[in-house]
Amino acid sequence: MRIYIKTYGCQMNERDSEALAGMLAARGHQLTAAEEEADVLLFNTCSVREQAERKAVGKVGFMKKLKQRNPDLLIGILGCMAQRRGEELFHELPHLDFVLGTGQLHTLPDLLEQLAEERKRIVEVAESSAVLTGMGCHYLTPGSCTAQIAITRGCNRFCAYCIVPYVRGREISRDHDDVVREARELAEAGIREILLLGQNVAAYGLGGNINPPPPGVSPFADLLEELAKIDGIRRIRFTSPYVSYFNDRLIRAIAATPKVCRNIHLPLQSGSNRILRAMNRQYTAESYLETVEKLQAAMPEITFSTDVIVGFPGEEESDFNATRELMERVGFDNAFIFKYSPRPGTRAAALDDQVPQSVKEERNQLLLADLAARTHRHLRALVGTEQAVLVEGVSKRMQERWSGRTDGNRTVHFLPIDGLKAGDVVPVRILRAGNVSLFGEIVRSEQN
Ligand code: 5AD
Ligand code: SF4
Repeated sequence: MRIYIKTYGCQMNERDSEALAGMLAARGHQLTAAEEEADVLLFNTCSVREQAERKAVGKVGFMKKLKQRNPDLLIGILGCMAQRRGEELFHELPHLDFVLGTGQLHTLPDLLEQLAEERKRIVEVAESSAVLTGMGCHYLTPGSCTAQIAITRGCNRFCAYCIVPYVRGREISRDHDDVVREARELAEAGIREILLLGQNVAAYGLGGNINPPPPGVSPFADLLEELAKIDGIRRIRFTSPYVSYFNDRLIRAIAATPKVCRNIHLPLQSGSNRILRAMNRQYTAESYLETVEKLQAAMPEITFSTDVIVGFPGEEESDFNATRELMERVGFDNAFIFKYSPRPGTRAAALDDQVPQSVKEERNQLLLADLAARTHRHLRALVGTEQAVLVEGVSKRMQERWSGRTDGNRTVHFLPIDGLKAGDVVPVRILRAGNVSLFGEIVRSEQN
């Protein structure tokens, strides 16, 4: 069968879709980027904000015309919205064939075979840990040097705004050796950079305990050290860790492992202690800053990116200003700023002091402007420096140039040299800063 997959939402969803593509290809199916050509249309959905759900429902609704033209077409909704809404989706989208939740994704290839034999509506939304071992497959783009590995699934934290614990279920960790084996296989397939994924990667191997571990304990640190021993792997990134899990063991392990990139995505959500408490986040602005400072002391070159929510219920001007100040103080290199979106069934959705949309909009704009100014400042500061760049290939925007990323996750464009290939790490002198990326030239040496 020819299969089209569209993915909404976070990197975890991107990874799930990639694993599904790998499993389907292994069964002899073909992946296609053209929905009109497909025999099966799959929509891997996100529920984290209302807008993401609305987009997916709109898109699947639009597919009705393809189904009218080709009644054999199979249409399935997968992932978080499938889990959250289940059977109910058939009422809104009568041309839908199946709904497959987050715990059942690994059953997709069998389910498609079953549907090819006998047409019927199917809803599978049971929670299952089999998904943990069943989703290790990859579908690598030729020439690509980066791959993602999911090390945990689900979340136990129940932040007051967040739907994830409801739609992705309880937090479970992959087996240490299983992850290492997957990374080894990827390295043998030419992968040079791995991105470890999980709702809270730093809770890896702690058995779902929501209390951060004692100072000397961090199974996540053990995993990083083991992965760094794999020869072909040059860089290791991870997203996202919860700040309270950065104990001395983890900080020391990162500092002593140069392959772990010195750019950490550390979700802040708010800089106001009152709001952090209401969000059920287990840290304060002060303890967040303390961890940042410990990381900076251990690795002076470290940079941070973050997630922030504006307009959480009850957020006053003073709370927002505390967020703004803390963001400036940490000097985040990048930030994903979200307008709070009430999610059914979460604690915050029931609060009555919801912030008006116009105020969320205004706060969002202010943080975006701060960020743009900061990004520009940071990029300019890199002009004249020499950066180790992991080469990704021909630049998407400029065919004559190639691009790659610095250890700090900045994109750099440069002219290629003979024999250069994706996956190489080359020294690049930064010549100029654009709005979001850098321009440079490869420093020629004996080796290159
Ligand atoms: N509204 C807005 N943003 C949200 N996030 C999670 N839930 C919500 C919500 N209800 C944001 C958080 C999280 C990121 C992935 O999405 O900042 O870190
Ligand atoms: Fe959601 Fe909080 Fe879990 Fe992140 S840690 S997925 S924000 S509940």
